[in-house]
Amino acid sequence: MTWTTALATAGEETGTGGALLWIALPYLALTVFVLGHVWRYRYDKFGWTTRSSQLYENRLLRIGSPLFHFGILVVLLGHIGGLLIPKSWTEAAGISEHAYHVTAVALGTIAGIATLGGMTILIYRRRTVGPVFSATTRNDKAMYFALAAAITLGLAATVAANVLDDGYDYRETISPWFRSVFYLQPDPALMADAPLLFQLHALSALLLFAVWPFTRLVHMLTAPVGYLTRPYIVYRSRDVQLGAHAPHRGWERTID
Ligand code: HEM
Repeated sequence: MTWTTALATAGEETGTGGALLWIALPYLALTVFVLGHVWRYRYDKFGWTTRSSQLYENRLLRIGSPLFHFGILVVLLGHIGGLLIPKSWTEAAGISEHAYHVTAVALGTIAGIATLGGMTILIYRRRTVGPVFSATTRNDKAMYFALAAAITLGLAATVAANVLDDGYDYRETISPWFRSVFYLQPDPALMADAPLLFQLHALSALLLFAVWPFTRLVHMLTAPVGYLTRPYIVYRSRDVQLGAHAPHRGWERTID
């Protein structure tokens, strides 16, 4: 089956909107994510950076940054477990749906709140600390919008499903849909009946994936592992007493 007939068939089953949202959009976002990173690496290798603002302000950063980064690490590990590992596997390993659900919701909510808290501190810092605000580009603002949307909607969906309702078993719908995209057999019908907040969360995540390669978020793919094994950087003192020549009186020329 070609892509166009796959889209047309899915369109008949779930409506054209469903086919666009849960087939066309995910592939578009993932293609931009992959090719965008290749493009960025080839054309902006030296701009591949966090553009750290630590030199401008450290007090708020020291709280907000670890809170956000440790929180998001747990959230993403939870997503790998919840979206990629089929329910049948955890059940075969003797983990009941109830045990899985309670652990996932408890850990997910704590990690989600830490992530949201950390991000709020980081955004507050960006807005209120003058030099940090000056170093904030339109690109950064767009990135924070997409990131905040994905995180807030994810947390809202989790809380709404578990606090206001009796829980929602996303491993019957959202997870198999997510995997179906990677098997190249996308099944949009699985997403059609998911609660609205979960649908909005998945769409906001696709938006985030599409803008990712063009923002400072690229730093996530390049943890500075080389720091562990690289030689020390040797800093030499400019103290004239330690220099090679005796100090002159008055100003010294800096450019010959
Ligand atoms: C298409 C990709 C994604 C899908 C299908 C997805 C799906 C889900 C699902 C099903 C939950 C509920 C988990 C639970 O109740 O235990 C959730 C929660 C959440 N998601 Fe996502 N998600 C995606 C991407 C992302 C991304 C990229 C982020 C952050 C940048 C994110 C942040 C969150 C947060 C903060 C929560 C609430 C806390 C938690 O459960 O960990 N999600 N997501």
